[in-house]
Amino acid sequence: MSLAYRILYAIGFTPWEQMAHPAIANQIGDLFAREEEGREPPYGTALDLGCGSGIWAVELARRGWQVTGVDFVAKALRRARDRAKQSDVELRLFQGDVTDLRSTDPGSGFQLLLDFGCFHDELSDEQRKAEGREATAAAPDATLLLIAWKPGRRGPLPRRASSEEIQGGSR
Ligand SMILES: C[S@@+](CC[C@H](N)C(=O)[O-])C[C@H]1O[C@@H](n2cnc3c(N)ncnc32)[C@H](O)[C@@H]1O
Repeated sequence: MSLAYRILYAIGFTPWEQMAHPAIANQIGDLFAREEEGREPPYGTALDLGCGSGIWAVELARRGWQVTGVDFVAKALRRARDRAKQSDVELRLFQGDVTDLRSTDPGSGFQLLLDFGCFHDELSDEQRKAEGREATAAAPDATLLLIAWKPGRRGPLPRRASSEEIQGGSR
């Protein structure tokens, strides 16, 4: 379990939540819409890997997905529960490690996998591969939506991930 994330949630410093800004949220909404095209809700099951405070899990649930979220920080999950309650949607939430989903057992057969900011951050190469293996086992036929910063931008964090690293890490 990452001490860094525990501390960041404890002190309320969660800058990645600014991704929910309308300009970016609209683009993310377009990605969701692509998966929903030509169908009516309910759209199916989605697993949010590193769901944090549930911003995108709640958005998906609001749109008509049955959403399960996994994160290893208890405070993040408490915030996700509150967010779901305020939005009057249901989420299945599990405290666990995305590199060892089997231990948490959040279910299987998901149609949509989401990783917004987890894979590209502090996971080592081995942990990335483990996340890929575990997520593939839980959802072999799912569409994966993964948001990562490209390598080469300024600053040490997040670690970032190239397309090649994402493809390699998800095998
Ligand atoms: C940058 S935040 C993004 C949170 C959320 N997806 C969002 O967009 O608001 C990354 C999240 O991944 C979680 N995380 C990182 N490594 C993890 C791991 N190995 N297992 C479970 N959660 C993890 C962190 O606790 C954090 O909530």
